[in-house]
Amino acid sequence: LVDLREDIFAAIAHEYRELASQLGIDTVHALPVVAPSGDNVGQRSARMPWYQGPCLLELLEAAEPGMAQSSHFRMPVQWVNRPDASFRGYAGTVCDGRVNVGDEIVVQPAMRRARIERIVTANGDLPHAVSGQAVTLTLDREVDVSRGDVIAEAAHPAPVADQFAAHVLWMGDEPLLPHRAYWLKIGSRTVNARVTSIKHKVDVNTQAELAARRLELNEVGYCNLDVDHAIPFECYEDSRPLGGFILIDRQTNATVACGMLDFALRRAANVHWQHTDVDKEARSVSKGQQARCLWFTGLSGAGKSTIANLVERRLHALGFHTYMLDGDNLRHGLNNDLGFTPEARVENVRRVAEVAHLMVDAGLIVLVCVISPFQSERRFARSLFDGDEFLEVFVDTTLEECERRDSKGLYRKARAGEILNFTGIDSPYEAPEQAELHLRTAGLRPEQLAEQVVEQLLSGQGT
Ligand code: ADX
Repeated sequence: LVDLREDIFAAIAHEYRELASQLGIDTVHALPVVAPSGDNVGQRSARMPWYQGPCLLELLEAAEPGMAQSSHFRMPVQWVNRPDASFRGYAGTVCDGRVNVGDEIVVQPAMRRARIERIVTANGDLPHAVSGQAVTLTLDREVDVSRGDVIAEAAHPAPVADQFAAHVLWMGDEPLLPHRAYWLKIGSRTVNARVTSIKHKVDVNTQAELAARRLELNEVGYCNLDVDHAIPFECYEDSRPLGGFILIDRQTNATVACGMLDFALRRAANVHWQHTDVDKEARSVSKGQQARCLWFTGLSGAGKSTIANLVERRLHALGFHTYMLDGDNLRHGLNNDLGFTPEARVENVRRVAEVAHLMVDAGLIVLVCVISPFQSERRFARSLFDGDEFLEVFVDTTLEECERRDSKGLYRKARAGEILNFTGIDSPYEAPEQAELHLRTAGLRPEQLAEQVVEQLLSGQGT
């Protein structure tokens, strides 16, 4: 279309090189090719005498593979092969470095040491294996190795951490919300992860760093990430297999992001869990009860606080030790910095769940009343508690009924556009699918509903 003009080609190549250098890509070859006629593909084109470089095939044949690789041996364990008691091998693809029979290795993150006994493949044993080879390793002693562990050179193990700075490319239709729990898969290991903060997002055209509270589809952000178990890793610059990861939505199993670990944040390593001798069990026993979290969820005006208040009165009268955490009340103090955008609600519910968890640890029966509109955060709340400690109570009042009552006049304002992001109006409510207690409020008085809750609770209190 542009008559194979050299000046146009040069201008495009120049622009591209500038962008590449901003991205840290230092080797770029610009090559003028014409696909339909094959100019400069298999051989140098006579139609572009101004181009003196190699044709595409020559260039590809001479290119050095630029895979970033750590030189030290690493193999994520993909599968533990135990056909019978006599054989136990760890199968995977060597992702970095080289391994020899007899080498001392360490199984990460537990850091158990052993030596390589055999390197087994479908075509017989090998004396050594290098990156890219799929092998089964056997060890000279029994150590505990599971899928997801990394077998590494003992003298140079991979670093292990649970907090990172990372680039994230968001591919989900729903935005990335800080503090929401996702699964993170790195190598062959999957752990729980959350983005704790988005430092900035990147304008892909200008490389400018822009402030961001969330990442939308196809946005790139630089984030801090927390995972719930320390994992062996490498910086992406040093190793793609151990520095690249994906994030997976816990409900849909969809891959919602891919990312590159930049470096580990050191904070985590310096904060340890402090053991205390008086524990939840002891605190509950001294109160003569089993600590519980009653989590009331439902639309604004559904009756959560009214019912919970009646439940608390009953429990108090029966001599139980209780505390009520009410969304509206907490928003006057602990959560007074949070609004009602989806990301603010994620953080609101996370904080309330953490506080409820502390209170259960203190031996109390805690009644939580927050809309908590998202499944994902209620699931997170549940995950903080042991076995039957957490009872989700779905206060199921229809939107029409809540709107008809409109005790705080908020629905009217929301309909008038005076309040944005109002649950049920222009912000979603994801109803629970498996609540321990589903209160269908229609036609029942709050006292009757409270009685259902008390009954359910007492049945688990051994009374
Ligand atoms: S949550 O969604 O983050 O769980 P929370 O339960 O703490 O919400 O607070 C909800 C209460 O805030 C409602 O009962 C209502 O009184 C008030 N409120 C004010 N603005 C909104 C809004 N946009 N959406 C929902 N509730 C709101």
